[in-house]
Amino acid sequence: MRIGVFGGSFDPIHSAHLEIAEQAIGELHLDKLIIMVAGTSPNKPNAEAAPAEMRLKMAGIAAKDIPGLEVCDWEIVRGGMNYTAETLDALETAYPGSEFYLIIGSDKVPGLKGWYRYEDIVSRAKIAVVLREGSDRTGLKEEAGDLLFLSVSARGISATEIRQRLFSGLPVTGMVPQGVEDFIYEQGFYFPQGIREIQSRLRAALTPDRYSHVCRVMEQAADYAERFGVDPEKARLAALLHDCAKCMDKKEQFALSGESEYIPAILHAPAGAVIARTDYGIEDPEVLQAIRLHCTGDEGMSDLDMLIFLADMTEHGRDFPSVNAIRDAVWQSLEHGMLVALVYEDRYLREKNAAIHPAAGRAIQYFKRKESAL
Ligand SMILES: [Fe+2]
Ligand SMILES: [Fe+2]
Repeated sequence: MRIGVFGGSFDPIHSAHLEIAEQAIGELHLDKLIIMVAGTSPNKPNAEAAPAEMRLKMAGIAAKDIPGLEVCDWEIVRGGMNYTAETLDALETAYPGSEFYLIIGSDKVPGLKGWYRYEDIVSRAKIAVVLREGSDRTGLKEEAGDLLFLSVSARGISATEIRQRLFSGLPVTGMVPQGVEDFIYEQGFYFPQGIREIQSRLRAALTPDRYSHVCRVMEQAADYAERFGVDPEKARLAALLHDCAKCMDKKEQFALSGESEYIPAILHAPAGAVIARTDYGIEDPEVLQAIRLHCTGDEGMSDLDMLIFLADMTEHGRDFPSVNAIRDAVWQSLEHGMLVALVYEDRYLREKNAAIHPAAGRAIQYFKRKESAL
């Protein structure tokens, strides 16, 4: 068998890693490529980095989509310092008679000769180098002799940048596979402590499906916040808490809502704004208003209000008819997205003979006036 080994901390695994993996499998004609997820290095403790077990799970989620890709937990299980030579020892025992290819970044080449048991490594594995953009292979050959080169040049995505973006509420759409993004948002390990605390309380207050929906709304809200220049941290907080009262008893929701008419489907929005303040300690009136208006909308909505309303309706798990028409409308503007979404909702409620909240009626008229004023 021809086996590639691609090691790293994968914190998190991202699209550039996967591009390298696919290219390596094709160009080196590998039967399999093993993603070797490194254990936590005792010399580089990093409070913000994900635990080994989470890095392993993310790699597993990503690998499912690529034939030939496998994830190995050997370095993590073994613990302590991991040396490539020892990893190769273990792989030779597991796959006797195989040909091994070690995939490394060109930035690792200058230090290669200093690796523990270097001669042993190069006598047992061929080294395949991924060129970083702008690096030149002639200098590399002189430094480390017999090298293979992969014709991918690692795209400008770095795990550090991904972690920083997630910490600040910026989107990572397309930088990691969708399944990995969902996992990161649900687990929250790259988010600030305050967000993680709310997440753990919501996990107890909501059903698992509702909690997953809330996390997808956070993803969509991050994306819209960047697209429309809305404060990403407010967007994240409002998205996270928008359905915080959804799984409470309807009568309790009604009592909290301050509504005079009992319209069950929308009560959790005004009730949620109350719970967000009293139970989760959120004082920001803009965030509370976005939670309150996320079902009905209203006239004079702020960008944040519209963003949460639309992120809730268009998160990637939604598949009702017209959802794509609403997504397309949001590309034009938040206001246009609102109009298309409200018209859809109004028609849907009328068809079901369901009650329409007065705020929804005001909202639809408001966005119609705005559109005709253009
Ligand atoms: Fe809701
Ligand atoms: Fe929702």
